[in-house]
Amino acid sequence: MQTYITLNDGTKIPQFGLGVYQVPEGEATYNAVLDALKIGVRHIDTAHAYQNERSVGKAVKDSGVPREEVWVTTKLWPHEYGEGKTAAAIDKMLERLGTDYIDLLLLHQQFGDYLGAWKDMEKAVKAGKVKSIGISNFESERLEELCEAATMKPSVLQVECHPYYQQNGLKKRIEKYGTVIESWYPIGHGDKGLINENVFTKLAQKYGKSNVQIILRWHIQEGTIVFPRTTNPQHMKENFDIFDFELTADEMAEIRALDCGKRFFNMTLAEQEANLGAWHPAD
Ligand SMILES: NC(=O)c1ccc[n+]([C@@H]2O[C@H](COP(=O)([O-])OP(=O)(O)OC[C@H]3O[C@@H](n4cnc5c(N)ncnc54)[C@H](OP(=O)(O)O)[C@@H]3O)[C@@H](O)[C@H]2O)c1
Repeated sequence: MQTYITLNDGTKIPQFGLGVYQVPEGEATYNAVLDALKIGVRHIDTAHAYQNERSVGKAVKDSGVPREEVWVTTKLWPHEYGEGKTAAAIDKMLERLGTDYIDLLLLHQQFGDYLGAWKDMEKAVKAGKVKSIGISNFESERLEELCEAATMKPSVLQVECHPYYQQNGLKKRIEKYGTVIESWYPIGHGDKGLINENVFTKLAQKYGKSNVQIILRWHIQEGTIVFPRTTNPQHMKENFDIFDFELTADEMAEIRALDCGKRFFNMTLAEQEANLGAWHPAD
């Protein structure tokens, strides 16, 4: 049985989902989301920047799964931040997704007028257009700035998190806000060095699972939310098949010992800001 986490606003999020970063709009995203919903996955993580919200929304609609059983997360890009501006961007998002409400709306990046955007996000919750709100990639002091200014504290913080980069410092910083970590790059963006670590191979043999399943199970038991990306139906089934076994406390500790500060996304804050430049996704 898949697990759910109760967020600080009382909503229940499926702890496992499908991420669709870098999956092209159209057939690829549509089929991946349909395949995921068919096998019982109930959580999809997209973003305006991924430019595939329309296909996500269409697949959710066509799947026949009641809308209230599917959790849809999407993210605002910095050019959409600002009081008034963000409200209009949310309405456009609802249109692209073809839905009356968004389950979880995130600020994708910690740049621009994120405080103004947050005010509109809180209003969207009150208006019933969005159920939960959160942030992504806020790792600098802007995290505390936003959390302190917020009336509704972020429900989630979505950041790079995997056995090589476990975000223990960040987890402590968000504890007092009741915010939960969502792990992006949960299997290291597919990095073979991480996946083939001896400890995963050993535990995979013990439990009759794959190395990737061991990593994903570790995330679940750590209490973080995961949405590995795949368009391969076999991988999708495999990734979701992690709710029938449990790692022991010693095995969890063995995996925790892999934490070594290694990230797979290495741009500095200044580089990221410069890299954003004038680029923004089409409406
Ligand atoms: N907020 C942000 O800034 C941010 C940034 C990055 C990502 N994200 C979110 O996090 C999600 C996951 O990140 P990600 O997609 O970059 O990295 P990931 O999920 O860690 O890794 C994806 C890679 O792993 C492979 N893979 C998946 N399942 C596998 C399996 N069972 N066995 C072997 N290989 C497997 C996939 O290839 P196949 O297709 O061949 O299976 C793909 O190459 C994204 O889709 C997105 O929703 C958010």
